Amino acid sequence: MSRTSEREALLRLAVAAAHRGGAELTRRAGKATGVAFKSTATDPVSDADRASESAVVELLTRERPGDGLLGEEGAERAGDSGLRWVIDPLDGTVNYLYGIQHSAVSVACERWDGDGWRPEVGAVYDPARDETFSAALGAGAHMNGRPLAVNDPVAPAAALVATGFAYAAASRARQAAVVAELLPRVRDIRSGGSAALELCWVAVGRCDAYYEDELSRWDWAAGALIATEAGAVVTPLGSGVTAAGPALHAALTGGSPITAR
Ligand code: IPD
Ligand code: CA
Ligand code: CA
Repeated sequence: MSRTSEREALLRLAVAAAHRGGAELTRRAGKATGVAFKSTATDPVSDADRASESAVVELLTRERPGDGLLGEEGAERAGDSGLRWVIDPLDGTVNYLYGIQHSAVSVACERWDGDGWRPEVGAVYDPARDETFSAALGAGAHMNGRPLAVNDPVAPAAALVATGFAYAAASRARQAAVVAELLPRVRDIRSGGSAALELCWVAVGRCDAYYEDELSRWDWAAGALIATEAGAVVTPLGSGVTAAGPALHAALTGGSPITAR
């Protein structure tokens, strides 16, 4: 099988898995139970997160038992195929629990290249809008089958910039200082509450840039590939990323506060 057709098959599976997870979220919307807290009292997890991860993992395990797994709610398997799946079964849990329809299932497949894990395919499914964002390495990004392209060029003063905030209070104080410095220089700032969707919204042109400096891999693994394949430049920022069209990315990261730690 060629690398291209292998990626096509992996992408179909990523999309199917994200849809499986999304069906669990839709079923439980407005009536999530089993809410508990993880890193802080503002970092929730619910039965919806757990059920979505189980549904995603069940399909991936059945179809690709030799691949590794890394899921936010505990899925972990080493695998022996050189591929692994990185899963955020509900990105935007706080939105979901408040009934704000802005959350997603994120499923990425990565390949070990001897030095690190590199993206192969990614799928992000927003069940409330029934929007499926997808990308395969070198094959572009799509939303519900439509090709995506980032906004470019965009001047900083005209840029709608998305960001998000960590759950730890000390991190937020630092992140707020960065926002205070950035806000006078851009059109406006948005904080949607789903890193995976914010990256997809850069890809589809609903915002011009996104940055966040404290993320886990499952937050950005699929969305970063989708933004990249839509023409964004995506670079590391702490444990997170900065993503924007090439002109804006260069302007924002050239000595700007969003490169500061
Ligand atoms: C969170 C969301 C949020 C971001 C946080 C993430 P979760 O993920 O992506 O937008 O600001 O840093 O932890 O907890 O909803 O999966
Ligand atoms: Ca997340
Ligand atoms: Ca999550």
